[in-house]
Amino acid sequence: MLMFPEIDHILIDETKIAARVRAMGAQIAADIAADVARTGRDQITLIPILTGSIVFVADLIRRMPVKMRLGVVAVSSYPGKSMQSKGAAIRGELPPDLEGKHVLIVDDILDSGRTLGLVRRLIAEQRPASLRIAVLLRKQVERAEEVDVEYAGFDIPDAFVVGYGLDFDGYYRNYPQIAVLKGNGA
Ligand code: IMP
Ligand code: MG
Repeated sequence: MLMFPEIDHILIDETKIAARVRAMGAQIAADIAADVARTGRDQITLIPILTGSIVFVADLIRRMPVKMRLGVVAVSSYPGKSMQSKGAAIRGELPPDLEGKHVLIVDDILDSGRTLGLVRRLIAEQRPASLRIAVLLRKQVERAEEVDVEYAGFDIPDAFVVGYGLDFDGYYRNYPQIAVLKGNGA
């Protein structure tokens, strides 16, 4: 495509993403409603991990008919023109006061596991009433850190993907589907 010169092929198209996100939203909302009933605690906070989750979380929350807050956290792991995680680092503050709340961490992709491993550990320290993770994509790779995610939209092969929030060197986040870049071996 002219304006997205480095895209090789589409891995997951818009229709498939929309259907899956709709189903995930319904499932997660139902599970959270069950948590609220079980614990008597009704405060729900979603923690989107910036920047990659923005498109996914924007679509997901509109498929979740529950009263919730958002508390974003910025993590960087792929600085510059890199296709390799260099270890995750939190930028800025984590949302405070998560004790006793139902927390759902939302990210674009589980790859090495460093990002979600770190965020889950730090949030768990605040003793939320429940703590779950939702990712759109789960890459089938050996993980540096094993992380269980409760909700995964799609399992994908070990290729570097962009679009729907995912970037290469900051670009392609606005590409509306999940695509594989050229020269990525996939
Ligand atoms: P992890 O810490 O290695 O699990 O990587 C998680 C973060 O790296 C995600 O939040 C993404 O922003 C980024 N990432 C991992 N794999 C890809 C990819 O294939 N394309 C674009 N970004 C990726
Ligand atoms: Mg990211």
